[in-house]
Amino acid sequence: MEGRGGGNGGDGSSGGTYCVTGATGYIGSWLVKALLRRGLLVHATVRDLEKASYLLPKWNGGDRLKLFKADLHEEGSFDEAVKGCDGVFHVAASMEFSVPDQENIGNHH
Ligand SMILES: NC(=O)c1ccc[n+]([C@@H]2O[C@H](COP(=O)([O-])OP(=O)(O)OC[C@H]3O[C@@H](n4cnc5c(N)ncnc54)[C@H](OP(=O)(O)O)[C@@H]3O)[C@@H](O)[C@H]2O)c1
Repeated sequence: MEGRGGGNGGDGSSGGTYCVTGATGYIGSWLVKALLRRGLLVHATVRDLEKASYLLPKWNGGDRLKLFKADLHEEGSFDEAVKGCDGVFHVAASMEFSVPDQENIGNHH
């Protein structure tokens, strides 16, 4: 998805551009809303653009909000989203845990 670099108000906003990862999450979704309310430009990363669609009317960001598809497990997938940003709120958090079969948890004291 195409993004817009616009740090420091490239499009007229004076507050700058901020990336929020995990924008569909509890903290991320409120952060997006709070930043937009302050008149800032927001690059919001989501894993599933469809899943984010119900949040769009709640965010009501208009053209100050850009969505980017990115996954922590995909190298480089956040590159476009952070490009041109003045700051990044990295709140995406993977809940996938795996312990290799051969690893003995008893060894971790
Ligand atoms: N909530 C709290 O009270 C609290 C307090 C202190 C610290 N924290 C920390 O703050 C962070 C966010 O918490 P939260 O409550 O907002 O969590 P959350 O509601 O579970 O949101 C997690 C976000 O990360 C995204 N995500 C999960 N796996 C991903 C992956 N592989 N690649 C990219 N994005 C991925 C999720 O996307 P999907 O929607 O696609 O699953 C979701 O947007 C966590 O590190 C948490 O430990 C939270």
